[in-house]
Amino acid sequence: MNKDRKLIIAGNWKMNKTVAEAADLIDALLIDLKDVKEIDMVVCPPFTALGEVSKHILSTSIRLGAQNMSQHPSGAYTGEVSAMMLKEFSVRYVILGHSERRQYFNETDALVSVKAHAAHAAALRPIICVGETLEEREKGVTEEIIETQVRGSMDGLDAAKAADTILAYEPVWAIGTGKTASTEQAQEVHAHIRRLLASMYDESTARLVRIQYGGSVKPNNARELMSQPDIDGALVGGASLEARSFAQIIKSCLD
Ligand code: 13P
Repeated sequence: MNKDRKLIIAGNWKMNKTVAEAADLIDALLIDLKDVKEIDMVVCPPFTALGEVSKHILSTSIRLGAQNMSQHPSGAYTGEVSAMMLKEFSVRYVILGHSERRQYFNETDALVSVKAHAAHAAALRPIICVGETLEEREKGVTEEIIETQVRGSMDGLDAAKAADTILAYEPVWAIGTGKTASTEQAQEVHAHIRRLLASMYDESTARLVRIQYGGSVKPNNARELMSQPDIDGALVGGASLEARSFAQIIKSCLD
């Protein structure tokens, strides 16, 4: 696929997979994907499986991501995990502000931006998630909601850090529902985000930022979504839990 930016396809395993199951999944993925170089491939297991998966992907082209991290470097924050702890497992990416964290754990744009700064300081690449609810889409305020989230979650990031940040547009109504945004709906929001980045930074920074789409990405819709000019990858939930479907998604976007 002829793209301006290298595609990045990540699997968000959410709260799934024991250590043994994670080992099986990554081994199966490696069989299918070991020769893929044209697409950046990332898996984001739960914290408890990072160590195991990390050992399996040594010297392969699959990279490791975490699903969240603390904004603090260390200290009395029971239950939290710091950037340095992730780095011990060679984690390269960290998902921040996923809608499930915004919805169930009260994460705000302000918190996401503090975490994004902490991630960059530790040389972890943030994957910052934004997306509107069904109610917001029906009210016709999608673009305003996305703008508030992007500006707030990237607050204070300079152009170099912005260019090294991945954004994920995940309409909340498309997550785990089997309802994908149409390619036109997704492209429209992605183009809006890129225009917004150009106004926050400049055209060349906006051209560098990779914007993933997430929400019911499956083997049968991935290629069409990825062929849109401003869609630079996917953040895959359910279909990343089985090696076959995740590998098919990636392979369908090759060439
Ligand atoms: P699904 O692919 O299961 O809709 O999940 C999308 C998602 O939330 C990825 O972060």
